[in-house]
Amino acid sequence: MAEKKIDIFDTTLRDGEQVPGCKLNTEEKIEVALALEELGVDIIEAGFPISSPGDFASVEAISKVIKNATVCGLTRSVQKDIEVAAEALKHAVRPRIHTGIGSSDIHIKHKFNTTREAILERAAKATKLARNLVSDVEFFCEDAGRADNAFLARLVETVIAAGATVVNIPDTTGYCLPHQYGEKIAYLVNNVSNIDKAIISCHCHNDLGLATANSIAGIMNGARQIECTINGLGERAGNTSLEEVVMIIKKHHALGFYTNINTTQLNPLSRLVSDTMRMPVQPNKAIVGSNAFAHSSGIHQDGFLKEATTYEIMTPEEVGAETSKIVLTARSGRSALAYRFQKLGHQFNRNDIDTLYQQFLAVADTKKEVEDADLNILAQNYLHVAV
Ligand code: KIV
Ligand code: ZN
Repeated sequence: MAEKKIDIFDTTLRDGEQVPGCKLNTEEKIEVALALEELGVDIIEAGFPISSPGDFASVEAISKVIKNATVCGLTRSVQKDIEVAAEALKHAVRPRIHTGIGSSDIHIKHKFNTTREAILERAAKATKLARNLVSDVEFFCEDAGRADNAFLARLVETVIAAGATVVNIPDTTGYCLPHQYGEKIAYLVNNVSNIDKAIISCHCHNDLGLATANSIAGIMNGARQIECTINGLGERAGNTSLEEVVMIIKKHHALGFYTNINTTQLNPLSRLVSDTMRMPVQPNKAIVGSNAFAHSSGIHQDGFLKEATTYEIMTPEEVGAETSKIVLTARSGRSALAYRFQKLGHQFNRNDIDTLYQQFLAVADTKKEVEDADLNILAQNYLHVAV
C-alpha cells in the first residue's frame, strides 16, 4: 500500500503565540519561521494580520524570507480581515488565507446571534473573496467538535463550492473523544459531495489531553493535514503537539502515512521555541522533555543497559535529543551504579559494588538525585578505606 502524505501545518506563531506571555517580536518570529522551514513543515501559519500592526509586519516579513513552505495568515469571515491578510501575504511564494466562522449552534447563537443559513452565506462570501485574492484558501469551521454533523457537512460543501482548497475541522474546545472526532471526519468524507476537491485538516485543542489522539483519529478517517505547534503550545491547554504526531506517524508505519519532517531537528527546535517564548518544557513531555530519555528505576536501568530497545521505542539521536541518561536515585540498582562509576573511570568488581551500593543508598535516601560529585566522594572514601 502506497503511503499517504500528511501535510504538517505549524501554528506555533499564531495559536502558539496566543499563550499569555509568549509574545514574540518580528525578528524572533523570523528565526522560528526559518527553523520551521528547515524542519520541513509544509505550512507556516505566521499570524493574524489584522490583529495588530506588529502581527501584520511579522506576516509580511515571514512571507519575504520563506521560500518552500506555504505561508498562511488567519482572518475572520470579514472583508477587511481578508483584504489585509492578502496584503500581508503579497510577497509570499505560496500564500494561503485561512478564513472561517463558528459552526456549532453554541457559537452561532451566542457569538454571532444569527442563524445557520446566515452562517452559510457569510462563509461562502468570505471564501469567494479570499479566492479572488489568493489561489489557496483554507476555511475553518470553528468549534466543529461540538457542531451538528449534518450542518457541518453543509458548511463544508458550501465553502468547497465557493473555492476552499482546505477545510479545517477544529475541535476548538478540546471536547471530542478520539472515536467521535474520527467519526466526524468520516462523516464528512461520506456525506460531502465535493469533498474530493479539498484537503481535510485536523486542528485539535488539548483541554482533555486528547489533542494528539484526536488528530491521529482524524487522519485515520480521511484527513490529510494536521495543525499543530512545537511543544504543544496554544490557547488554554494548548494544541496538538507537532513532535508527537510526527513521531507517531514515523513509529507506526502500519498506519500508512508519512510526513516531510526531519525528525533530528525536533529537539533543537523545541529548545529554540522554549527559549524565545520563555516557556519551559515540562520534563516528562513526550519526545522533547528532559526526562524523555532518562531511566531512573533499577528494573528499567538494568534492562536498558542490557539492550536499549527494552525501554526505548526511539533513539535520542532520531529526534535530536542528548544521549539517554541513567539517573541515580534511591530506586536505582547495582547495574546502574556500576555503569555510572565506570563512566567516571572507576572500575569496581561485583563485591566492591555490593558494598558501595549500601553506601550509595544511604546518600540516595537523603537526595533526589545522586550526582557525579557524590559518586566520586563515595569512590574515594571506599578506595581510601580499602588501601
Ligand atoms: O481553535 C480554533 O478553532 C482556531 C481557529 C481559528 C482555526 O484556532
Ligand atoms: Zn485553535
